[in-house]
Amino acid sequence: MAKRRFLVTGALPYSNNKLHVGHITGAYLPADIYVRYLRSRGDDVRFICGSDDNGVAIEISARKENSTPAALADKYNTLQRAAFEGLGIHFDIYGGTHHPDFVEMHEKLSQDFFTSIHNNGHFVKKTTEQLYDPEARQFLPDRFVKGTCYHKLEDGSDCANPDATGDQCERCGNTIDPLQLINPLSTITSTTPERRETTHWYLKLDKFQGMLADWFSISSLDWRSIVTNFSMGAIKRGLPERAMTRDLTWGVPVPLDDPDAEGKVLYVWFDAPIGYVSFTARYCENNGGVWQDYKDWWQDPDCKIVHFIGEDNIVFHALIWPAMLLGTQYTAEEMEKLGSNYRPRTEKGYYQLPHNVVANAFLNIKFPGKDEEKISKSRGTAVWIDEYLKTFDPDPLRYYLTANAPESQRTVWSFEDFVERNNNELIATLGNFVNRWQKIVKEHFDRKVPSNERAEDMERELLETVRALPEAVGEDIEATRFKSALNRVMDGFRACNRYIDTREPWKTRKSDLELCAATVHCCIQAVRTLGVLIEPFLPFASEKIRVSMKVPVEQWTWMHATEELPVGHELGPVPEVLFKKLDMKDFEV
Ligand code: 2FM
Ligand code: ZN
Repeated sequence: MAKRRFLVTGALPYSNNKLHVGHITGAYLPADIYVRYLRSRGDDVRFICGSDDNGVAIEISARKENSTPAALADKYNTLQRAAFEGLGIHFDIYGGTHHPDFVEMHEKLSQDFFTSIHNNGHFVKKTTEQLYDPEARQFLPDRFVKGTCYHKLEDGSDCANPDATGDQCERCGNTIDPLQLINPLSTITSTTPERRETTHWYLKLDKFQGMLADWFSISSLDWRSIVTNFSMGAIKRGLPERAMTRDLTWGVPVPLDDPDAEGKVLYVWFDAPIGYVSFTARYCENNGGVWQDYKDWWQDPDCKIVHFIGEDNIVFHALIWPAMLLGTQYTAEEMEKLGSNYRPRTEKGYYQLPHNVVANAFLNIKFPGKDEEKISKSRGTAVWIDEYLKTFDPDPLRYYLTANAPESQRTVWSFEDFVERNNNELIATLGNFVNRWQKIVKEHFDRKVPSNERAEDMERELLETVRALPEAVGEDIEATRFKSALNRVMDGFRACNRYIDTREPWKTRKSDLELCAATVHCCIQAVRTLGVLIEPFLPFASEKIRVSMKVPVEQWTWMHATEELPVGHELGPVPEVLFKKLDMKDFEV
């Protein structure tokens, strides 16, 4: 199989928050499964993430925690790294858009991006009225202002959410124009803001609509429908111009020699996705190259760029970010000439558009005896990763969050379901099968792969079923159907359990040791294959199985998964307990 190149990103979490199960199932776990699979298959992959340190959200949290944005960003960046590591999610680099080790590179590349799009004529400079807090002596972009939502719901009634912020309404999901908020209040001083004029640079997204629609029709055939439906719907409704600068001090300074740009920074959603690029540049520099080598990943059509995100990020990754990338590729005149024809620029030196944007819906949560609700930091309705890892192992969480992933619609975390799936699926199906023949191989065959001379159709059929799985599971993962992929692997284990129940080697070891040998032989071969296939999903259990099978790490890959362990191959020690039994009492919440 040819070696392909992939640059995979996980949405940069804001560095004002710890990570909870919704974040993990939304973006990072599917990305990790994808990356682990591609690596196992032999592809060349870089996995990039880091914290999103700029923007109003960080400033507000810093005020609340009586800290500074820089200190806050540093604190949460460290906590996030630890949570990811604890879950076995290993990035090639974990940056931070304002982190001391990254900020210089990040500012440079973000400013280069802005300048390139500016020079290509895609911004319009406009002076408009915006909300201003005279007491705090500053403008109030995004979450610096709160008020009642002015949007209508689908049934025609008013949304009227009193807690809408200047960027988005959480109740109806619409973006907010702060000037239209009913009864706006500054979130800094709780006073009523006034209107003052200010100047900003707006990306002319309307000019990109036709080309984006064409790009979608060519590129997104195998994308998830939540991404394509949302994006095509937004294009049909029309993409409004959006300000890409803000009246703030915390962020990337606007790189224009223009008095109107003074004291302004780039909109956080302009610089955030460039974080993927600037962290790649740092990665290259730290790994024996020069920072400019990031171009081998970002400006080479042979490299497939795949973004993993949550549903609230679709507009930014599937529309605004591709528009920014196109804006570096073409001048406004060139775009005008091309009209609605997307012409991929495949020459070296041009940023490439994503190969796929993979989004998940949100995960709700259901506490025992309560109704299903949204995960919320302020209401304390979340399962935090650091808390979870203090008591429990990562694999059961990875299992549940994949089996129950909100791939096409919202799903709900329920503690009962989590416990049940751990006990009845992970332990009863997977762990149990790996264990059922261990004692026999130790007591009767000296922990060596026994002879399969007595193998019959039943053995051949089981191994045929199992050995067909790498291809089918791989196809699912490539198509980002992670739930289905995991289900196939579990079906493999279910088939194995049915097989061993029929053969009953615990009986034949006394009555027919040769048949017992063939049975155990078959079980070992099945686990040799399935143990590799669980690696992207359950890396910790997979590693324990590998050690117990004494297979070198370089052969524990998709490419080697169906290779037979020869008769006489000496196994390693009986594997440690793969999964611990859980009880609802463990979750006294
Ligand atoms: O929604 C969020 O948490 C954003 N911080 C995601 C940014 S993704 C990327 F563009 F950096
Ligand atoms: Zn609303």
